Amino acid sequence: MARSIHVFFLILLLHVLESALANKLSSLSLADECSLLFQLKQSMTINKSGSYDPRAYPKVASWNLNGSDGAGNCCLWDGVECRFGHVIGLDLSSSFLYGTISSNNSLFDLIHLRTLNLADNNFHSSQIPSGIGRLSQLANLNLSSSFFSGKVPKQISHLRNLVSLDLTGNLYIVYNLYQLELQSSDFQNLVQNSSETLRELFLSRVNIDSELPASIGNLTHLNILDLSWCGFTGTLPASVSNLTQLTFLDLSVNQELLIPIPHLASLSKLKYLKLGDAIFDRNNSCDWLGKFPNLFYLDLSYTSLNCEIPSSIGNQTQLRELYLRSIGMIGQIPSSFTNLTHLTALDLSENMLTSSLPSLESFSNLTSLSLSYNNFDRWKLPDWFGKLNKITYFGISDANLYGEIPSSFFNLTQVEELYLYGNNLTVDFNLIFSLRKLKYLDLSGNNITLSVIDSHRNETQPKFKYISLASCNLKVFPEFLRFQNQLEHLYLDNNNMEGLVPGWMWNISKDTLLELTLINNLLMGFEQHSPLDSWVSLQLLDLSNNMLHESIPVPPPTIEFFSVSNNNLTGEIPPSICDLTSLHLLDLSFNNITGSIPPCLEKLSNSSLTVLNLRSNILQGTIPNIFSTESKLEMIDLSENKLEGQVPRSLENCDSLRLLDLGYNFLEDMFPVWLGALSELQVLILKFNNFHGIIRMPARIKVNFPKLHIIDLSYNSFSGDLPHQYFQEWSTMKETKANTTYMETYIEDDSIFKTYWFSIHMTNKGEKMDYKKIMNTFSAVDLSSNMFRGKIPESIKTLSGILLLNLSNNELSGAIPPSMGNLIRLEALDISGNKLSGMIPQDLVQLNFLAFLNVSNNNLTGPIPQGKQFNTFSNDSYMGNALCGFPLSMKCGDSEASKPPKVSFEEDTESYFPNGSDWVVILIGAVTGLVIGLVCGDYLSTKYYRWFSQRSRR
Ligand SMILES: *[C@@H]1O[C@H](CO)[C@@H](O)[C@H](O)[C@H]1NC(C)=O
Ligand SMILES: *[C@@H]1O[C@H](CO)[C@@H](O)[C@H](O)[C@H]1NC(C)=O
Ligand SMILES: *[C@@H]1O[C@H](CO)[C@@H](O)[C@H](O)[C@H]1NC(C)=O
Ligand SMILES: *[C@@H]1O[C@H](CO)[C@@H](O)[C@H](O)[C@H]1NC(C)=O
Ligand SMILES: *[C@@H]1O[C@H](CO)[C@@H](O)[C@H](O)[C@H]1NC(C)=O
Repeated sequence: MARSIHVFFLILLLHVLESALANKLSSLSLADECSLLFQLKQSMTINKSGSYDPRAYPKVASWNLNGSDGAGNCCLWDGVECRFGHVIGLDLSSSFLYGTISSNNSLFDLIHLRTLNLADNNFHSSQIPSGIGRLSQLANLNLSSSFFSGKVPKQISHLRNLVSLDLTGNLYIVYNLYQLELQSSDFQNLVQNSSETLRELFLSRVNIDSELPASIGNLTHLNILDLSWCGFTGTLPASVSNLTQLTFLDLSVNQELLIPIPHLASLSKLKYLKLGDAIFDRNNSCDWLGKFPNLFYLDLSYTSLNCEIPSSIGNQTQLRELYLRSIGMIGQIPSSFTNLTHLTALDLSENMLTSSLPSLESFSNLTSLSLSYNNFDRWKLPDWFGKLNKITYFGISDANLYGEIPSSFFNLTQVEELYLYGNNLTVDFNLIFSLRKLKYLDLSGNNITLSVIDSHRNETQPKFKYISLASCNLKVFPEFLRFQNQLEHLYLDNNNMEGLVPGWMWNISKDTLLELTLINNLLMGFEQHSPLDSWVSLQLLDLSNNMLHESIPVPPPTIEFFSVSNNNLTGEIPPSICDLTSLHLLDLSFNNITGSIPPCLEKLSNSSLTVLNLRSNILQGTIPNIFSTESKLEMIDLSENKLEGQVPRSLENCDSLRLLDLGYNFLEDMFPVWLGALSELQVLILKFNNFHGIIRMPARIKVNFPKLHIIDLSYNSFSGDLPHQYFQEWSTMKETKANTTYMETYIEDDSIFKTYWFSIHMTNKGEKMDYKKIMNTFSAVDLSSNMFRGKIPESIKTLSGILLLNLSNNELSGAIPPSMGNLIRLEALDISGNKLSGMIPQDLVQLNFLAFLNVSNNNLTGPIPQGKQFNTFSNDSYMGNALCGFPLSMKCGDSEASKPPKVSFEEDTESYFPNGSDWVVILIGAVTGLVIGLVCGDYLSTKYYRWFSQRSRR
């Protein structure tokens, strides 16, 4: 007994000693802590940028050391929490803090802190300060959405008492990118050091970029795990199945992380599961979808499950939100689905669901329903939709609907967004008006009946923000628009509206309209001339593909995107256009505009203009010298006019220029070698002009067209040798690029988004082709119809990435260099109409993708190479030479060479894919947009094309 009392006192003594020691070490009084806090306040700036929270206010503003509450009482300061005479909590979230916190900031001397919340401030892309490691008592650390960037300091992983860590949502201020990085070894240390304590881990958008370590399974107390957008690779470790306390799991958008579903099977407490954009192992059955008894929220969107919805889904009766968008779901929606009556949001869009929709009539709390883009049998909107009276979002576009919308549907008075485009519905617009809260309406591609609506209906119309009635077979402007005064977006494209735009149109939604498109109608003009500037907020106006027979209308100065291409506009470019300094894109192409290019366009080219397209008009005079180093121009197309003179030298200021097309004019100049300094230039077209002289690469320019991949100098008077030095410089034409994006530019701001694809036309396989979009992988050299002489240089082999080579109609002589067999991606080769001699080199048989060959009208002799693509060319390819062998009837001495080759392509009705290398031919052809019909004839049937385009859309 006595002994144990002794022990007891000993322990007590030790405790006393220990706390005394600890106090000595810290020796921080509350007054000290208050003064540290005040120093923190003084080290920060208050700036309202960066906060997302409308309730944000500067908490530290009221902190005052000498205030009536006295220095000792910082415990009363806003955001400060004290216990046992120490500051233990600091919540400065949404406090407009701005600037950088250095690692020796007084904040990190507050060693008793257990909670630190700096979320939703603006630390201006600075690093998370490593001083945070000194706060060893920290249990709750929240640094989310505060514009931190760079490496997360390893000191964070040393914190041994963490219960909750949140580093999500740290945007990099300049590019809107997420830029926090956590080294994988630090992540592992974090997991190890906090395995006993951690309950909440939020690392969304922190780039970790490694495999997920198996030790994650040690965090057995975890309730919440958010590892979305972390760049994890490899396979989700089996140890995850030990995280049985998880209620929230988000692994979405780790696009290289394979998730074996069985590892999740034991997580029976999950309420919230988000795995969007992930990869699953292929076990085909999706039965597991019904195995989480407590799920409230499930999001698997943008994965490729490619299975049927299992009938076990009916077991998930707790589900409130279900998002299965674009996951390749096939088959029918099971009848058990009707069990999910608590759903408030359901998204099954962009799948391949067939048959019909089971009745959802008891889903009385549904507020958001998306079923767009499925393969349902032709169906009518069922009556029971009228019972879903809480619905605010309704999307059933492209879903094979037909017939009339049932009247019960118009009971859905809460609907704010209604998307029914791409169906075959008959819609009486008067009924739509009973949906009084409607703001967003898209009925494009349906059959709309617009009975004449008289002005009495004025008050009873919903106030729309967004209306799309494209492809609705409208003949006149819908009168109801007269009474819309809050419209922001109005799309009336692809209708048959003809005649004049009525005068009242210019009065609708004057203050609010941002976007108006009337593309592809039959409009002839405006009832009142050019009153466009009454829309004081207009940012986008597209009137292209009409029959406007007017002078060029001038939109208000807010305009960013203005296209009137493909009309019959006449007259000169009005100087007032030059005042539209917000313009990003000006497209006046394909009209009958006369006069000269006004020099005042300098104002536009020096502001935000990125696209200037004046193609196919009747513009004359010289191109004014108006381009400055301020220019943001990426595309200039002045082709098909009557412009004369020289290429304006100031174009060399356009550092951002990617496409320059001056073709089909009367320009007279030498080759503008100085354009070689434009490091972004990808497409240069000078064809059909009077360019002349020898093309010599200048010694003093250091870069020579480093990104050029399309050059067309055809139909000029260039002379001398082919520009062989350039062949070695054009490095982009040497690459085989993998990414198949289009050349485009886009306008994006808060309210509008519009992509504009660059376009050109080129001669391909003897035919003029319109490339409405240009693949970045498309690479072509056309030097035809000039006066180039001499040999085809050996250096041509360096252009190994090009698809099109046209050297026809020059005065080239000598032999075809065998090294042309190196141009392995070549699909079309035209060297006809020269003075080439000798044999066609056997090496050209290596050109596996060659679909078009023209060597006619030269002095070539000897046998035509045989095999591969050479089995597919016809006589026309070889005419006007002294060649022999297949396909010509002229036999060579050697009888083998003249044998008609075996046809190597066979129709296989079973197989979905062509076999072997033929398959590659088709792929590449489809990618570049070239038609490979010549290779395979009818073999390239539409099914392959459809298969391919489906693939390439992913
Ligand atoms: C954590 O997990 C790993 C692998 O799953 C294991 O080897 C290790 O012993 C665990 N560490 C702790 C501290 O539990
Ligand atoms: C789960 O935890 C147990 C006990 O801690 C351990 O033995 C087992 O290996 C873990 N499972 C996995 C898959 O890591
Ligand atoms: C899940 O649903 C299936 C069929 O829908 C049923 O047979 C099964 O018993 C259910 N499982 C559970 C755990 O409720
Ligand atoms: C519907 O839910 C109940 C539980 O509420 C369950 O017993 C039943 O199996 C479910 N039906 C189907 C077809 O899954
Ligand atoms: C709808 O929501 C209300 C209120 O939350 C709830 O009481 C009711 O049970 C819900 N109905 C369904 C079918 O889930």
